[in-house]
Amino acid sequence: MSTSLFGKRVLLGISAGIAAYKSAHLARLLKKTGCEVRVVLTEGAQAFITPLTLQALTGEPVRTSLLDPEAEAGMGHIELAKWADVVLIAPATADLMARLAHGHADDLLTTLCLATEARCIMAPAMNQAMWRHPATLANAERLESFGWTLLGPDAGDQACGDVGPGRMLEPEDIHARLAATLASLSKPLSHVDRGRSSVARESIDNRDLAGKRVVITAGPTREALDPVRYLSNHSSGKMGYALAAACAARGARVTLVSGPVSLETPAAVERIDVVSAEEMLDAVESALPCDCFIGCAAVADYRSAEVSPQKLKKGNDDADLTLRLTRNPDIVATVAARADRPFTVGFAAETQSLEAHAADKLARKRLDMIVANDVTLAGAGFGSDDNAVTLFWPGEAATQRESLSLQSKQALAEILVDRIAARLA
Ligand code: PMT
Repeated sequence: MSTSLFGKRVLLGISAGIAAYKSAHLARLLKKTGCEVRVVLTEGAQAFITPLTLQALTGEPVRTSLLDPEAEAGMGHIELAKWADVVLIAPATADLMARLAHGHADDLLTTLCLATEARCIMAPAMNQAMWRHPATLANAERLESFGWTLLGPDAGDQACGDVGPGRMLEPEDIHARLAATLASLSKPLSHVDRGRSSVARESIDNRDLAGKRVVITAGPTREALDPVRYLSNHSSGKMGYALAAACAARGARVTLVSGPVSLETPAAVERIDVVSAEEMLDAVESALPCDCFIGCAAVADYRSAEVSPQKLKKGNDDADLTLRLTRNPDIVATVAARADRPFTVGFAAETQSLEAHAADKLARKRLDMIVANDVTLAGAGFGSDDNAVTLFWPGEAATQRESLSLQSKQALAEILVDRIAARLA
């Protein structure tokens, strides 16, 4: 059982999306982990799911209206707003996000959100074009700057037949990320704390990346030779995942484009799984524009020129097999070459002439910063829990540098994010 959720009072808000039917399962999961759950449905949500279903699952009356004398006599809306440890809205429609981003209080759910000092979390759900619309993205950023945590949305097939970002995360995923988000917080932090003053904010935690969008690649890519074999490398994803966790903890909206690894998705991070370099580039481009791109993945420079549809067979003789390789796209250089380029950070994995090779990649790929690892150093680089790196960035006269000694990838990620945040400000 998740200890970060046990005993928590969760106000579950449900708005008018087709994903509302999944909220019944979410309510059940929350109850099973020991949460007290009170549900508020918007008017439109009742077209998708009934109050009776949620009442049966939570064992509590479900609220639907602000102006309901009977319900208000039981627990007034301000009392309900104070009762909650966490407000979780799933699904959160584009319309609800817009109203919350602009401080509306024209129904029970928006009023509660304005009145509560609880941690506020939402799982957006809408059509992909609606999610990609600059108005929705601006509302998402505005909500994050008020202290909201956004979980997802996921990408994939949509109920309307479209494919793309906008699907609500699955209830299990929302539940796990909610638990991880609460576990990572020493103290609930709400938009009320955040809006008061920057001094108060810093004393609670460091959210200097609130409102920033960060895209990070992590892990290896796999380049298929045939249905059972591939070219790859030893990247575990630990360095990239540590960076994603550090950026998200500081309030950034993080998309982590990950090669095949066996790591948990960090709290409040949107993760897109890919296999090959070409898939990684597509996923990165779908997540742009952003304020900062960090290319931490160990992307295969080459892929097989032909992928055999059948398993490659040994010949009867002892002859060698020659593979013809073709160049993969350079993801970090593609991002840095865009007209709307973000602050672009690359990594360099080197086995010799660290400084010369890193400086060459910094200039050739037009990066704003490069983080170079000597991957021959014992206990650092690929697969290890620790790393030691040297940062290089363009200076007025010459390349500037800073060396960071061997330490955990988490500690290193914190310092790297400090250096990046100082340049994004
Ligand atoms: O995953 P871990 O086990 O924690 O290990 C971390 C790490 C060693 C993989 C990481 O710290 C690291 O160094 N990542 C970059 C590895 C790498 O591919 O280096 P490179 O020198 O080949 O590439 C330079 C830069 O170009 C990198 O930012 C890379 O992501 C990018 N690149 C490379 C090739 C390509 N086709 N597209 C790219 O974007």
